[in-house]
Amino acid sequence: MNISKTHDHHTIRMATLSDLKQVVVVHQEAFPNFFLTKMGKHFLYAYYKTVLSYPESIFIVAVDEAEKKILGFVSGFINNIQYYRYMEQCKRTLLFPTLLGFLHNPSMIGQIIMNRKRISGISQQTAESSSQTSELSSIGVLNDTKNTGLGKTLTTEFIKISKEKNADHIILTTDARNNDHVNQFYLRQGFELVHTFIQPPNREMNKYIYHIK
Ligand SMILES: CC(C)(COP(=O)(O)OP(=O)(O)OC[C@H]1O[C@@H](n2cnc3c(N)ncnc32)[C@H](O)[C@@H]1OP(=O)(O)O)[C@@H](O)C(=O)NCCC(=O)NCCS
Repeated sequence: MNISKTHDHHTIRMATLSDLKQVVVVHQEAFPNFFLTKMGKHFLYAYYKTVLSYPESIFIVAVDEAEKKILGFVSGFINNIQYYRYMEQCKRTLLFPTLLGFLHNPSMIGQIIMNRKRISGISQQTAESSSQTSELSSIGVLNDTKNTGLGKTLTTEFIKISKEKNADHIILTTDARNNDHVNQFYLRQGFELVHTFIQPPNREMNKYIYHIK
């Protein structure tokens, strides 16, 4: 899939391996206190490399061509259960960055174990209906480009490519608490709240769906 669209100040295109160092920088700025960020830049790089290498990934970046700078990105994948199985297969690749993340922040051990259990649990679900499911796993823009329409542009492109890849819906989860602006952002893009659930040990999450017409 090859998109490349030039807007006033940026180009929207599919990500490549050479974009990932900057994607990590955007992630660190957009998600300062999140689990993946606390695992450190080596883990983040390995994580996004795994997403990018999944055959049915959707990984889009917005680039300021003049500054050669990535302003924002959205990543996800078609056939989400297959993706989590792929993650399981990549366990060994992620082992060293996970170890580095643990050494960087030993208090993360509980979350590391819980996260592993969560991925392993999802990967064991039956995958028949998952081929039409697209999951938007991460979207972020640099702080000084927030509220300029970039998030909306990236989401619109993600929806378009999901449709081209024959997905009939997109799912995502985001924090329910202290996260009104992100929840409002998704609602305004046409996502519908499916339900709210607790992600162990105590994280209240909203699950959203977008029906592709
Ligand atoms: C969520 C995020 C990607 C949105 O990107 P953005 O470029 O700031 O958003 P946009 O400027 O495209 O806004 C799109 C719409 O959301 C609305 N919106 C944006 N920020 C808002 C806010 N703080 N409160 C209410 N609505 C908001 C805009 O008004 C706009 O609505 P419209 O299309 O009806 O005009 C960005 O804020 C971000 O990177 N946040 C940190 C990372 C994060 O939390 N990601 C999501 C985790 S799942």
